[in-house]
Order: sequence, then structure tokens, then C-alpha cells
Amino acid sequence: MTPMEDARPIGIFDSGVGGLTVLDALTKRFPDESFIYLGDTARVPYGTKSARTVERYAIQVADCLLRRGVKGLVVACNTASALGLAALRVHCPVPVLGVIEPGCRVAAGLSTLRGAPGRVGVIATRSTVASGAYPHHLAMLDPRIHVVSLACPLFVPLVEEGWVEHPAVRLIVEETLAPLFSQHLDAMILGCTHYPVLKSVIARTMGPEVMLVDSSAAVAEDLGRYLGHVIAPAPPGTTRRLEFLVTDVADRFKETAQRFIGNVDDELVEMVDL
Ligand code: DGL
Repeated sequence: MTPMEDARPIGIFDSGVGGLTVLDALTKRFPDESFIYLGDTARVPYGTKSARTVERYAIQVADCLLRRGVKGLVVACNTASALGLAALRVHCPVPVLGVIEPGCRVAAGLSTLRGAPGRVGVIATRSTVASGAYPHHLAMLDPRIHVVSLACPLFVPLVEEGWVEHPAVRLIVEETLAPLFSQHLDAMILGCTHYPVLKSVIARTMGPEVMLVDSSAAVAEDLGRYLGHVIAPAPPGTTRRLEFLVTDVADRFKETAQRFIGNVDDELVEMVDL
């Protein structure tokens, strides 16, 4: 039976800094909950690696967070969710929440607003697209949804370098997304942690007809459903703790984190070996 209250932190992980977009949504939505965020900065990117490797990395990261006593795990990384979620759910003794299912549920709902069957675009890393995880989950929700997936390998390095308002970004985004212009999409899933940072340029490029789905808000919804059912919530009024673990280059993490969530206190960032 789940206890009524549990002050232990929730673990959240990503291949690097990108998952901070999800952490940001979760900390805003759940002010009493403590979080430990792990960025596997030594081995980022996951989005170019094989399923076997990503699964192995995900289990190692989960073990590190489990040793810290987390009461649940949020896999903020789309690539790790696409390739490692099933293994993580078998491996971990705590509830594990990924980003694919929540994002698909929102997209499926939006896509049929103009009448079924809807048309959904999915933009993500190469490995996420190759996994077929998004089309698979969308088909489970509604097999009539037409899904068009596109890998956008240049978007992650652009965001990491802070090239968000740079004039070259608009050009790269337009060139990359061009194959989707003729697809008459109703909704498009931003299926990578970094893409919400480029949301305004992606929205301008795709036009107002295409509704963008940022999975971080959808994950917060799902965590809300988990808390109080499969994960006990923190006692109300708890002074929350936020901790950050990285596997390499802590300074670079702090610098890039500025762009995602603002200042990260130096003393809260710890280097770990997995
Ligand atoms: N966090 C990854 C994702 O959401 C993007 C960065 C990477 O390739 O590791 O897919």
C-alpha cells in the first residue's frame, strides 16, 4: 500500500541539460516536492546511440538515483524514454514515468479537434525516430491517426550553443522542417528535451494551423495523476530540496542550465560516477 505522505525526492534524468525544461514544469506545478536531477553530461548525446547502449545508460542512471532514495523516477529524455522505458519499468522498484505517453495523449487529443482522423508530426532525435516509439503509442491511442516523423539532428547543438535568437537558426529550422510543410499537420510533438527552447521559431515556421505539443506540460499532468495514487506526495508545506548530479563538466552544465531554468546554485551541483 502506498503511504499517505512521503518526503523523499523524485528522481528525474536526462542525457544532459535538456531535461531541465521538464524539471522547470515539474517544480512549478509541485512546489512541495523535492527533486534530484541527473544529467549524464559525460555521455550526451543519447540521440545518436543504439538502443542497447541507451538502455544500459538509463539503467545505470536509474541505479544512481535509486541509491539516493528517490520515490519515483521521471525519464525526461525522449531518447531514453523511447529506447529504455520498458527495461527501466522492469528494473526499478519505484514508479517510472516517461515523456512519450503523455506527449502522445495530448497530441492525439489535439489532432482530432478538426475532425478525425488527425495528422500528427513528430520531431525528435535520430534514435527516437528510429525506435518508432511515438507512432507506436499514437497508434495505440487511435490507429487512424496519420503520423509523420522527422529527425532534426541539428536542433540539439544549436540549443546547447545558445543559438536561439541567432539569424541562422530560422534558416536551419526552415530547411529541416521543410518536408513537413505539405503534410497538413494538425499537431506536432516536440519530441526532444531541447526543442521547447526553439518553440517560437518552430511555431513561426510551421504556422498557426499546426498546434505544438511540448511534452513537459503533459508530463506534469501525468505526475499529478501518479502523486497520491502510486507515489505518495510530500507533506504539504515541505521545504523542497533541489539537487543536481552530473557525470562530467559541471561548469558547462551550470552555464547551459542558465538558458533553461535560470541560475543553478554552485553548491547544489555534484559530480557523480555511474
Ligand atoms: N535529451 C535528448 C532527447 O530528449 C536530446 C539530447 C540527446 O541526444 O541526448 O531525446
